[in-house]
Amino acid sequence: MLKTISFIVISIVLLKLIVPSCSIKISINVAKCLSDLATQELTGSYNYLQLSSKLGTNNAYPGFASLFTKLSDDDSSKAHDLVKFLALRKAKLDRLINVNGVSIRAGIKNTMDVVNALSAARNQNKEAWNIAVRCHQEADNAKDANVQDYLESHVLDHHIEVERLLEDFDNRFNEAQEFELKLVIFMLDEELLNTYGDRRKDIFS
Ligand SMILES: [Fe+2]
Repeated sequence: MLKTISFIVISIVLLKLIVPSCSIKISINVAKCLSDLATQELTGSYNYLQLSSKLGTNNAYPGFASLFTKLSDDDSSKAHDLVKFLALRKAKLDRLINVNGVSIRAGIKNTMDVVNALSAARNQNKEAWNIAVRCHQEADNAKDANVQDYLESHVLDHHIEVERLLEDFDNRFNEAQEFELKLVIFMLDEELLNTYGDRRKDIFS
């Protein structure tokens, strides 16, 4: 009898250890935060496209336009993956995007040059990063290591990478003398065109 009871207790403990946290229903606060993040990524995707369109068509910077098209693609796939993650973790949500919805940021609406476009893009990336950090904290409160892992390896690392890239461009602009800024922008545009190819063709061809 004692043997049976201890067998059952050990089995329950082992089962708890084996069953991954992803089979546990996600907490409402974590789910809401992740849907805020999905909204932010969708917003980011449309805003990067807006920047791409402005720089690619009005000012003819095909390299920067292609960089922003690539960042737009990245954000829309991040948003899609987050929604899939919420569905697989059986999140109970009455909305997939938050009440503020998706809109073009004021800073991006008025942006017409490369330097401003870069700082608008950095702000936008920072916003997503901040929401991801908030969700990480919510997941910590809910003891949801699965969400924390997901955020670390799919969201936070990406936004750190984007920040590093954009920060490097910003530094190059800041270090340039006023008379050479146009040349620095032109050379960087060429560099980006070599790296990403002309992504405007994906849309206009
Ligand atoms: Fe993003």
